[in-house]
Amino acid sequence: MGFSIGSAGVRTGGPRGNLESYADKVDGKSFNLKVFKYLLVFVKPYTLRMVGAFIAMLVTTGLTLLSPFLVKVAIDGPIIEGDIEGLNEIALVMLLAFVVLYLSSMTQRYLLSWVGQKVLSDLRSKLFSHLQKLPLSYHDTHIIGVTISRVISDVGVINQLLSQGLITLIGDSILLTGIILVMLSLNAQLAVVTFAIIPVIVIATMIFAKYAKTAFRNTRAKNAHLIGDLAENLTGIRVIQAFANEGSTSERFDEVNAANRDANIEAISLSFIFLPTVEFLSMVATGIVLLFGGISVANGTISLGTVIAFLAYVNRFFLPVQELSQLYATMQTAMAGGERVINLLNTEPAVNDKPDAIDMPTITGHIKFKNVSFGYKDHVKVLHNINVDIAPGQMVALVGPTGAGKTSIANLIARFYDVTDGTVYIDDIDVRDVKQISMRQQMGLVSQDPFIFSGTIADNIRFGRPSASIDEVVRAAELANVHSFVDKLPDSYNAEILEDGANLSVGQRQLISIARAILADPRILVMDEATSSVDMVTESLIQDALKKLLANRTSIVIAHRLSTIVNADQICVVQAGKIIEQGTHTELISQRGLYHELHDRQFVELVD
Ligand code: CTP
Ligand code: MG
Repeated sequence: MGFSIGSAGVRTGGPRGNLESYADKVDGKSFNLKVFKYLLVFVKPYTLRMVGAFIAMLVTTGLTLLSPFLVKVAIDGPIIEGDIEGLNEIALVMLLAFVVLYLSSMTQRYLLSWVGQKVLSDLRSKLFSHLQKLPLSYHDTHIIGVTISRVISDVGVINQLLSQGLITLIGDSILLTGIILVMLSLNAQLAVVTFAIIPVIVIATMIFAKYAKTAFRNTRAKNAHLIGDLAENLTGIRVIQAFANEGSTSERFDEVNAANRDANIEAISLSFIFLPTVEFLSMVATGIVLLFGGISVANGTISLGTVIAFLAYVNRFFLPVQELSQLYATMQTAMAGGERVINLLNTEPAVNDKPDAIDMPTITGHIKFKNVSFGYKDHVKVLHNINVDIAPGQMVALVGPTGAGKTSIANLIARFYDVTDGTVYIDDIDVRDVKQISMRQQMGLVSQDPFIFSGTIADNIRFGRPSASIDEVVRAAELANVHSFVDKLPDSYNAEILEDGANLSVGQRQLISIARAILADPRILVMDEATSSVDMVTESLIQDALKKLLANRTSIVIAHRLSTIVNADQICVVQAGKIIEQGTHTELISQRGLYHELHDRQFVELVD
């Protein structure tokens, strides 16, 4: 076994110790104008269509108000008078009104769904490109599943609020006001009696709103938790199965699942209590109209048509009340989700290009660390006063115990993180003074745990240079000693690889990632050697491929097998964030320090 085993990105908190990111701090206001304004920006490009939907909504609302009135006119006029011709006319107007209503309601729904889907995908694209820019430190400390739930579910409810909600709010408010006004103008007395029910509705709504606020927000948090747990367990499924940990993992999932279920049941129950309450009140109101209206008709103070119109209006009155209460619930989830999405969008990439950043000129490959200190968190330094000078074309090896800081040093070269103190220079230019993309385009990274994307083998090798021809891909694969393997596959370079290279062996994944780096032909190559043991044949294939990869460029090799690095121009021994020995293999062996010790130990283990 080597002396340095472990993964590059050791997470400090670990997902299970970092639950606070399930519940990002949110304001908790039931309506947050700032959030709303911020989100409205996403609707702006579709203003014209929203205006169209708004007009369609006005027409729909107007006609909804009109139809009971037409019934009244028909009953009190032509029907009572026996005026067939007049009745025909009104029937025609009604038909026309219904056709227009049908069209306007269809247009409104179509436009709102259209805008809704656009806003949804815009928001998701924006979030995704932002996530890609966020520093690794963000991704180090946030659970993937929770981030996914932001991009999928939170954005979903926000969209409901923005597209459907906004128009519903305005439409329903107009409709409610309209109904009240029409009823008052038809018969003020009957209207006032009927509206005696309104205070009860208001109280019921206030009680509902009070509980709904926390209940519906709670469902979001529990939902994020559920997705977070699911994603993590699926990612770690191999470990779970290997340690036969299915039982307790399931238990944990069941807990999270149950909590999500309970939160949803609680929220839904509120609606289930509230909505029938509104329905009940609507019956009461209908009863009031029948009773008082009926008496008045008998007295001859109100026309029959008016009472029938009243019944229709009362019926229409409670629908928007129900809709608005549902909207309030949606708003609770959307506000909480919106705040979190905005927090995410406002998370600054910690490593930003300076406004006056220049394009990195063609790199010759001189790398210099000057008094560099660094910590992932401000107060915990993991690198102390590192000084290294690497001439163009040199191969430098970093060795040392696990957790010593080797990967951290490598991370600073491509500026995945910014130094806390000191400076990293490439060709005597401070890496903070250049545009990151222009620099990274000239660098290659073979990471400790090479990631293979789903897609074809050719696409994976082309990853760093998508324009490469298939001949160039084959040439890189040949150099990487992976051609003979690929060539034997039925689809050769077009063979589909599963996500994370699940249908490839570890050795094959490493060789493909080497081919990827060879094809990208970077000026500076950082190679975080994988520790996983492969068979002797693959091992020598990898060694051989590495030799070709390292030629003609500056390379930093984090080596776990000392055989890789005996020929390095410079070996830096890293321990506890410091470089404690520096020199060639022969020099370091003769120093009889840590390198000598590590070398002996590895040699003994190999002989074992
Ligand atoms: N670390 C951290 N946050 C990270 C990554 C690492 O706090 N996102 C810490 C680790 O806990 C470790 C130190 O930084 O104490 C150095 O880590 P690293 O550079 O990854 O160590 P390596 O020398 O690369 O270890 P290995 O050989 O195991 O890859
Ligand atoms: Mg490492």
